[in-house]
Amino acid sequence: MSSVAVVASVAVLLVASVIICPSNGITGDILAAICSQTQNQETCEAILESDPRTGSADLPLLSLVSLELLSKQADKNHNSFVQFRENSTDLDLKRSFGNCVTGYNDMQGKIKVALRLSQKRQYKRINELGQLIKLAYGCENGLPSNSPTSGITETMLLTSQTAVYVNQFLITSFG
Ligand SMILES: *[C@@H]1O[C@H](CO)[C@@H](O)[C@H](O)[C@H]1NC(C)=O
Repeated sequence: MSSVAVVASVAVLLVASVIICPSNGITGDILAAICSQTQNQETCEAILESDPRTGSADLPLLSLVSLELLSKQADKNHNSFVQFRENSTDLDLKRSFGNCVTGYNDMQGKIKVALRLSQKRQYKRINELGQLIKLAYGCENGLPSNSPTSGITETMLLTSQTAVYVNQFLITSFG
């Protein structure tokens, strides 16, 4: 083989390997395209990068990662609201925290459905994630404005948005 042919075939192989098996998985450009749509791009990227799989994930795995992170956050918040309900002596407050617990139960159910659809790669059918944002707001809006829960609610909202836009990106990529 001439050296020109060797160089040419190496170049073809390189291009092919980049197209067929992108070794870096999700690129910074893709993360930016997804996360720039959320309220807080940096937080969205930090959420996704908190899972070590993101660095080498393809888009279907990124969908699963985003939903598993969302599931963990919902479980955490659910447990916190259960504690807040148990700890509060004020009856109105107890009831409001109880509404949050119910809301988070609801969210956990919707996330389970979304996870199953993501596993089946039926991204178009994942359409209830937006309701998580409503439920998380609804919970916090029923609480006093100085509620110590505003931080965990904010985290839940941003984690939900992150999952919404990851899965939106999959729909536009895969239909
Ligand atoms: C509820 O009370 C327990 C026991 O005092 C405490 O350990 C926990 O941190 C409290 N939880 C919340 C969310 O206030």
